[in-house]
Amino acid sequence: MLCCIFCLFSESPKDQSPSEKQREVSKLPSNPEEVEDLRRDSATNPLIAFTFEELKTITGNFRQDRVLGGGGFGSVYKGFITEDLREGLQPIQVAVKVHDGDNSYQGHREWLAEVIFLGQLSHPNLVKLIGYCCEDDHRVLIYEYMARGSVENNLFSKVLLPLPWSIRMKIAFGAAKGLAFLHEAKKPVIYRDFKTSNILLDLDYNAKLSDFGLAKDGPEGDKSHVSTRIMGTYGYAAPEYIMTGHLTPRSDVYSFGVVLLELLTGRKSLDKSRPAREQNLTDWALPLLKEKKKLLNIIDPRLSGDYPIKGVHKAAMLAYHCLNRNPKARPLMRDIVDSLEPLQVPEDDVSTGKVITVISGLPKEELKRKEDPHCN
Ligand SMILES: Nc1ncnc2c1ncn2[C@@H]1O[C@H](COP(=O)(O)OP(=O)(O)O)[C@@H](O)[C@H]1O
Ligand SMILES: [Mg+2]
Repeated sequence: MLCCIFCLFSESPKDQSPSEKQREVSKLPSNPEEVEDLRRDSATNPLIAFTFEELKTITGNFRQDRVLGGGGFGSVYKGFITEDLREGLQPIQVAVKVHDGDNSYQGHREWLAEVIFLGQLSHPNLVKLIGYCCEDDHRVLIYEYMARGSVENNLFSKVLLPLPWSIRMKIAFGAAKGLAFLHEAKKPVIYRDFKTSNILLDLDYNAKLSDFGLAKDGPEGDKSHVSTRIMGTYGYAAPEYIMTGHLTPRSDVYSFGVVLLELLTGRKSLDKSRPAREQNLTDWALPLLKEKKKLLNIIDPRLSGDYPIKGVHKAAMLAYHCLNRNPKARPLMRDIVDSLEPLQVPEDDVSTGKVITVISGLPKEELKRKEDPHCN
């Protein structure tokens, strides 16, 4: 079913005529009944269809001080579902993603992709979709609230404490398990937009993949790849995908390598503020990953040397293999999960002990991390 839906809405070539585009737009669902019709055979997870009025209540009328983040197609607000909103609902904190842009065809299609994929898949390392709103031109998604926000917000924040090594490895492990689950699903899924802003963290730094707007069904039968319009994020996308549009699960493995590099170095995949040869993280760091002595010079200085050297070498070699230009030479996500497992630090040290000890000695401003992890 999932496949059929994505055949129906297969990505349109750039030279598509306006009338063809119009025909495809009219195939997109325009109310909750049509959404549920599309979901009928694949709807493993029950989703709540919210009205727009209910979302106003949940988000305090989309108050600006509730904005958690924004991106391609609108803003994400923090919200609260209270018992009196509707009978039978449990009180819960949520994140509400409003596709408010220009109500574009692409925006609506990405909204639908999330409804379909997250309405079907469930795993501890994927963010949980609670419901959606499909009313008039409103296209909204309601997710479980992830208290610490994105890995991007945490890793590159100038205000928050640097993430310790143990937590970086926990994040890599969690995110790898999420991707492995997608690749090994009965109908494999390619995530296609793996990057730090799409990995969210709960209070205990469990990583969950969110933002399934660009996810695609994997190749079927004896096909080696799916052909797509090239979409994703420059700096994370695999070189062969950018060049040919051929998408395989190994494209996600490459992006995973980039994120692992970001966790190791504390640098962004693309950073225009750096000297020219350091702007593209992969180009700059790749040759250094195999050189044991030089490697330590590129590890995030904010870690102040507080990491196990052997663990750093192993993680660096893993990133190196993920970033192989030959997609077939890259490891499978399952191999990556297995390699990251021995690099994990026992849970006790990760969650409370070490981190809280550091937090308690902080200036007031940095204490904000604990109270409101979204403040960065
Ligand atoms: N469930 C959530 N809990 C907390 N913050 C979230 C949640 N979903 C999204 N965000 C925040 O909003 C940002 C953008 O969300 P995302 O789903 O990636 O939207 P976009 O399609 O615009 O990239 C994220 O990087 C994160 O900071
Ligand atoms: Mg995103």
